[in-house]
Amino acid sequence: MASSPSPIELLERYVTLTPFNISLAVAGFLFIFAFISANWNRNHAPALKDPIPYVWNAFQYMTDQSAFLNRVRDTLRRHPIVSFHIGPMKFYMLKSPKSIQALFKTSPSISSDKFMHMVFENMMNMAPHDVDRFVQDTTGRLATPLPTSNLRPDGKEPKRYWAPYHKILHDNLFRASETNELGVTYQRLFEDQLARFKIGEWTEDIKVRDFLYRDMFIAATTAFCGPRVLQLSPDLIDVFWRHHEIAASLVYGLPKWLNKRALDLQAQFHGAARRFLEAAEFPDAETGTEEKEGWDEVWGSPANRELCRFFKKEGFEMRSQAGSMAITNVFGSNANSIPIAVWMMMHVVHDPALLAQIREEVESVFVIDPATGGKTLDIQKMLALPLLQSVYTESLRMHMSINVTRQVIEPVMIEGYLLEKGAIIQGPAEIVHYEEDTWAEEGHPASEFWAERHIKYIEEVDEQTREKKTVRQFIMSGRAADLFPYGGGVSMCPGRFFAKQEMMMTVALLVSRFDIEFVEWTNLEDGSKSDRPAQNHAKFIGGAAVPPDRDMKVRWKRLW
Ligand code: HEM
Ligand SMILES: *[C@@H]1O[C@H](CO)[C@@H](O)[C@H](O)[C@H]1NC(C)=O
Repeated sequence: MASSPSPIELLERYVTLTPFNISLAVAGFLFIFAFISANWNRNHAPALKDPIPYVWNAFQYMTDQSAFLNRVRDTLRRHPIVSFHIGPMKFYMLKSPKSIQALFKTSPSISSDKFMHMVFENMMNMAPHDVDRFVQDTTGRLATPLPTSNLRPDGKEPKRYWAPYHKILHDNLFRASETNELGVTYQRLFEDQLARFKIGEWTEDIKVRDFLYRDMFIAATTAFCGPRVLQLSPDLIDVFWRHHEIAASLVYGLPKWLNKRALDLQAQFHGAARRFLEAAEFPDAETGTEEKEGWDEVWGSPANRELCRFFKKEGFEMRSQAGSMAITNVFGSNANSIPIAVWMMMHVVHDPALLAQIREEVESVFVIDPATGGKTLDIQKMLALPLLQSVYTESLRMHMSINVTRQVIEPVMIEGYLLEKGAIIQGPAEIVHYEEDTWAEEGHPASEFWAERHIKYIEEVDEQTREKKTVRQFIMSGRAADLFPYGGGVSMCPGRFFAKQEMMMTVALLVSRFDIEFVEWTNLEDGSKSDRPAQNHAKFIGGAAVPPDRDMKVRWKRLW
């Protein structure tokens, strides 16, 4: 019996092995190999170059945010997604509208929880077993629990923390009645602050940033948390702003020896919340009777009262209760709205024509009492003013540098790439909010503030005179995925309605009650004259609201 031919012999029967055929075969193999590896790579997001693998990227990410963002921005011009490592954690950054939308959609594969776990652990400094309650609860924020594989040993669902926490935030910050009460309380307190300026007298040397950092902070903190928190800790204003400077460095939980100064400030800041909580009582804690409605002198807003009550009632340690109050109710509610309000004022005051237009617009929403001549602000009408809303929106676009942060719970495809389970995804506003393709208009690049960017002019017929006139209309020129200062989806900022009221009201009251003149830009360190206007303070980029790196000196005269 003839032995069966070897593969080579078989091949030789049909093809002659010439150098040409051999190279053809090699080329074929190479092609197939290249095809497979290209597809392999297509599934794995391109990695950001790391000059010192596992070290440099992580270091720059935490210490030189704007340099890191520039490198990400470059890579994202060529690829829709870029990946890198921070310690053991894999990160993806992305920017396309489609991928940002994917982050905002409710999905069992993508969760907002992980970032908050880091906030609870590192910014709030909660006790580890208190953080763990939220970590164990994978059922999500909504009333209907997400299907979870994370069952307790008895096969039951884990105890829910996210859903009641979310409900308290929404019940107390979302409903018009609650937001309006907060808004009116803020207005009253802010106007109390303004009362120290004498009518008709010029005050020289007002610094816009310094002024709002103090006076807006006092009014907003008292509106939200009641008067006691500042009474018990008169140094809170100072401690707050020093803590604000290091807050971003706390998020990733750097080792203690690397971040000692930051942790000392954290302890001082949380100490103020602790003093407040130890002195405040829930008269109705046991019985549930005497439930107070609305704002009160002990707790301030129902949002503060109910959030603090939740953590106490659930038996969280004092350290965790204080951290939650400090970070959500004091830091969360001020750290973004005050710097953005500072920017709104700076943009408006620096441009006398804009200041005049804003003033004219704002005057139309004050109601004058015919008997007393007193003026009251119609808050609902103010919220709808087109130019003021456009300035507010433009200030958020340019100065709200948030990374929307999510975690991959199950491998998920975005833009044709398979994202790994456990990885962190971030959508950097710093890149998306400055996209020329989305935002630029003739003469107004995305990099420049333009008060009318979110305005359209339309023809309207005047109801009384029947004459045609041109009026401004506020339009959101971008989509939710182009502008996301408040994040999106189920974890979207619950404070956004109050924040909008508070910021717009601050500008409305100042421009209406004061004659304001720009004097000069000043350096933050010593108040000396600066040779250039304020820019985004590089140190804060990628953290959240980016304050200005210069102050603005004005002189003003109270009018009423
Ligand atoms: C200019 C003002 C503000 C801005 C730009 C802002 C922005 C944001 C952003 C970007 C998020 C993350 C959203 C996401 O994950 O998709 C967030 C969450 C949050 N914000 Fe704000 N915020 C502001 C003011 C406030 C105020 C006044 C409060 C009042 C207490 C507040 C309370 C919160 C809370 C509790 C969360 C966590 C929500 C959750 O994880 O479910 N914020 N905010
Ligand atoms: C946001 O992203 C930038 C880089 O793109 C990074 O440097 C910064 O640390 C991030 N901040 C947070 C709080 O995630």
